[in-house]
Amino acid sequence: MRQENCKVVSNRQIADNIFELVLSGELSAAMSQPGQFVHVKVGEGFDPLLRRPISIASIYDGTFTIIYRRQGRGTSMLAEKTPGMSVDVLGPLGNGFPAGEAKPGQTAILVGGGVGVPPMYELAKQLARNGVKVISIIGFQTARAVFYEKELSDFGDVYVATVDGTYGRKGYVTDILDGLEADIVFACGPTPMLRAVENGNYAAKTYLSLEERMGCGIGACFACVCHTKDDPKGFTYKKVCSDGPVFQAGEVVI
Ligand code: FES
Repeated sequence: MRQENCKVVSNRQIADNIFELVLSGELSAAMSQPGQFVHVKVGEGFDPLLRRPISIASIYDGTFTIIYRRQGRGTSMLAEKTPGMSVDVLGPLGNGFPAGEAKPGQTAILVGGGVGVPPMYELAKQLARNGVKVISIIGFQTARAVFYEKELSDFGDVYVATVDGTYGRKGYVTDILDGLEADIVFACGPTPMLRAVENGNYAAKTYLSLEERMGCGIGACFACVCHTKDDPKGFTYKKVCSDGPVFQAGEVVI
C-alpha cells in the first residue's frame, strides 16, 4: 500500500451519475488483484475529511481505472476533476477476488450490481486470459444506469437485468442466474443482491465482495466490521476493509 498524487488521464460520465476516472501513477504497478480498492481523497486539505473507497475496475500500462457514482458533495468534487489535475490515492487496499480458484476450462459467472460492476471488468479480463469461460450478469435499476455491457462482452457472454425492465431482462440478476450453471461464482453489489446470490448456492464455490461503509480503509477504525457466520452474535468479527472486501460465501454474516 502506498499513497500517491495520481494524474487524471480522463474523467467521463458513462451512465446516469456514473463516472469513469482513469488515473496514472506508479501505484498502478502495485495493483494486480481484481477486486481490490483504493481510498480516494476527493478534496484539498481536510474538507471533506474522509476518503472514499472505490474499487479498481481496470489496470493497464501505468494507469488504472475507477468508477464511482456521483451522489454527494465528495463525489461531486471528484466529478469536477479534469485531465492533468491530481488526485490523492491510497492503495491498493483489501484482498481482492481469488481469480486462481477458477481453473482453465471451468466456467465462472461474474455477478455485478450497480457500482459493484466495475471490479468484474478486471476479473473477467484475468479469468479469460487464464482460459476460464466467463459469463457476466450485470444488474441496474433502469436503462440509463447501465454501463460496461460492451466492455465485458470482450471476455464472454453478458446478460443485463434492470429492475424496471427498461433494458435487458426485467428483474434481478438472480433471475438470470437461476438458468445458468457454473463452477464458481464471483459477486459484487448491494447487500440484498449478495444475500440472494449466497442463498442460491449457484456453484461449488462463491466469493462475495461486500460494499461496506468505511472509515480508515486500513483496518484501524473498526467502522467496517461484520460478524463471522460461526459466531453470529459473539466477538468474532472480520474487517471488510482489510480482511475483505472479498469473503467466501458462508464466511461472514451479510
Ligand atoms: Fe477502518 Fe475498516 S474502515 S477498520
